[in-house]
Amino acid sequence: MQARDRLVVALDRSERDEILRLVDALSGSVGMFKLGLQAFIANGPGIVREVVARGEKVFLDLKVHDIPNTASHAVDEVATLGASITTVHAGGGPAMLRACAQPELVVLAVTVLTSLDEHELAAIGFDTSPVATAVRFAQLAKSAGLRGVVASPLEIEAIRIACGDDFIILTPGIRPEGSDRGDQRRTMTPAEAVSAGADYIVVGRPITGAASPRDAARAIVDSL
Ligand code: C5P
Repeated sequence: MQARDRLVVALDRSERDEILRLVDALSGSVGMFKLGLQAFIANGPGIVREVVARGEKVFLDLKVHDIPNTASHAVDEVATLGASITTVHAGGGPAMLRACAQPELVVLAVTVLTSLDEHELAAIGFDTSPVATAVRFAQLAKSAGLRGVVASPLEIEAIRIACGDDFIILTPGIRPEGSDRGDQRRTMTPAEAVSAGADYIVVGRPITGAASPRDAARAIVDSL
């Protein structure tokens, strides 16, 4: 994989024109665009089709979590939109994960949200640390036939050891050297995350909020 292909830019915007302006500004400089619930709910599936029609790859981050039948049909619909990657919650359990595994599309399991610390995990009934919980969810996703996971940068190494090299790890919580952390707490630089074993890094505001998003993206790719 080329360095550029590893960079996924999170387009956390509501306005269609703003999303497409960022896509056009970044086209050719990044590997993929992440559209999440904000962009999807504001614009509907048409926004995915529009970005795909520009020849770009889309990671549609819907974090599906439902009964197996409902979840798998939702994932099938994502595949018809032409997205390359989507997400389901590992906490949906083995049957839901098995139902969502499919050949048309890379379905990644969300392990432990980076917003959950040990106390939050305990409050919802997990008595293991975030890293141990993430490894357990990653193993569950792998045995259900999913191709990889979304995990915090701090969990990459443990998941890589537990699940092997042929397993995709995509990580948000990335901050280039010297950039504002915003609300992200446990961050790594792009180069640190890739050397820890991440296949894809997701970067949002450090690129989308830069005076020149293209220059910001290029600097990240060069750092890899
Ligand atoms: O702007 P920033 O680089 O913080 O954006 C990171 C993106 O990754 C956002 O779209 C955020 O919702 C997403 N994300 C995250 N942590 C997770 C899961 C997703 O930051 N655990």
